[in-house]
Amino acid sequence: MASPLVVDHAARSEQGSEWWRSAVIYQIYPRSFSDSSGDGIGDLPGVTERLDDLRRLGVDAIWLSPFMRSPQKDAGYDVADYCDVDPLFGTLADFDDMLAAAHARGIRVIVDLVPNHSSDQHVWFQEALAAAPGSAERARYMFREGKGAHGELPPNNWESVFGGPAWTRVIEADGRPGQWYLHLFDSSQPDFDWSNPVVWEEFRRVLRFWLDRGVDGFRVDVAHGLMKEDGLPDYTPDPDAGSMGGDAASVPYWGQPEVHAVYRDWRKVLAEYDGDRALCAEAWLPTIEKTALWVRHDEMHQAFNFEYLETEWDAAKLRAVIQESLRAYSAVGAPSTWVLSNHDVVRHASRLALTAENPQGHGIGPHSPGQPIPEVGLRRARAATALMLALPGSAYLYQGEELGLPEAIDIPDEARQDPTWFRTDGERYGRDGCRVPLPWVADAPAFGFSPSGASWLPQPAEWASHARDVQEADDASTLRLYQHLLAVRAGERLGEESVALEWLDWGVDVVALRRGERLFVAANLGTEPFALPVEGSVRIVASSAPVDGVSVESDTTVWFVID
Ligand code: BGC
Repeated sequence: MASPLVVDHAARSEQGSEWWRSAVIYQIYPRSFSDSSGDGIGDLPGVTERLDDLRRLGVDAIWLSPFMRSPQKDAGYDVADYCDVDPLFGTLADFDDMLAAAHARGIRVIVDLVPNHSSDQHVWFQEALAAAPGSAERARYMFREGKGAHGELPPNNWESVFGGPAWTRVIEADGRPGQWYLHLFDSSQPDFDWSNPVVWEEFRRVLRFWLDRGVDGFRVDVAHGLMKEDGLPDYTPDPDAGSMGGDAASVPYWGQPEVHAVYRDWRKVLAEYDGDRALCAEAWLPTIEKTALWVRHDEMHQAFNFEYLETEWDAAKLRAVIQESLRAYSAVGAPSTWVLSNHDVVRHASRLALTAENPQGHGIGPHSPGQPIPEVGLRRARAATALMLALPGSAYLYQGEELGLPEAIDIPDEARQDPTWFRTDGERYGRDGCRVPLPWVADAPAFGFSPSGASWLPQPAEWASHARDVQEADDASTLRLYQHLLAVRAGERLGEESVALEWLDWGVDVVALRRGERLFVAANLGTEPFALPVEGSVRIVASSAPVDGVSVESDTTVWFVID
């Protein structure tokens, strides 16, 4: 096997129709990535300034969480104007500059689209509040009469994903309490009514607005939520299910069959444009089989593989979820995706060492049970990433995981900002712990995140040792591991489905496979060292932890060839 190649990203990104099938896509959470203005909130010029770091990391594309105009009640997932940049993050010109700078480096750009709900500050919602029940303005959202003698009870028993009721009552023009509106998330996030054609028309316009500017695709927020079952029947969620998934039974607001028509419509809009623009669904569904329905040939191109993200650190379970993913997605002609962290879940450098349940969105704080041991978490995280990046399909990375960042657990209560924290009276910590601004330079104010030293969430003091500059200079760092894994993955085309994958039975605690003719991958999830069962001279190509000869320690993944 040729030694790891220096990758020509520009050439790679030109190479194919369907770049997204094997791409490594890096999620930027703009408010926490890099702040150029000094207000303590990251911004688009901050992204532009750091693109060379991402090029050096070796990613093919970036996905930016929302930076559109928003009152920021849910960190930008409450959009007031879908076709403008919020002044917190810059201007449309800053966006265009960032896009051009990314493209000049061979990095594609995906933006976040939030179609399930808008902000309550969106002009449509403001018009709806000012208009009468039954009006065309109200028909763009889910307004209903309440139950009870005076409409004083919500129209049904649905609960918000963030806790509390999913309905809020409005005050009508006559000053009296009137109709209720549905919000599956915060009360500042009213749900659109997707049975109304004007909503379809508006989102076609929004798609074209960004496509015309040159974006390469969209990550579609709450893609499984747009359609609600007729009659809005009561539903009581399974307390053991993740907050976004529900159980295997039908949930009247998740995964309704009518939603697929929306994405078929959008696929046609994307097809009007050149260059393989792509749609990726954020759809929390109970099975991979169901999620695969989102990526049939005329719907979305990708869907996040949350089953994979939610899989415990257990060899048999990992093997099973990988095999099922490859089977279910290839059955519909789509690549699988892989993801371990994002802005809604506990960072995998902590999650993989948790000894207590942690449903999506609940977060961990100082009083959570089963606190992770940082060294165990980081070691597993590095091993998990090394396994993930060896798999065929597209891999999503979340900013900061390349620095091995753990979840920030000790955030003071008064600094917390996630609506989940407020809506549950502090019962759920929520997602702030995975959203803390990145450390770039150990010896700089706010670790180089912001020139003023400001940071919208406090950064743990011990993050100095995670700073990018420290890690660039350290061969054994997590950053250098990621750079190396991505370079080998690109050189060996591991993301491509045409490079064969063969499973190897190397024991219950080991996930082992071969890619192509010569590259072996073995992840030891057991508690004992594992001796590689091969003959010949083993050459380690990459390793998540130091390897001594052919013995692989616990919680370690190796990539090797036999010379
Ligand atoms: C996003 C969350 C957001 C929610 C509501 C999601 O699933 O990823 O961050 O709070 O949708 O828009």
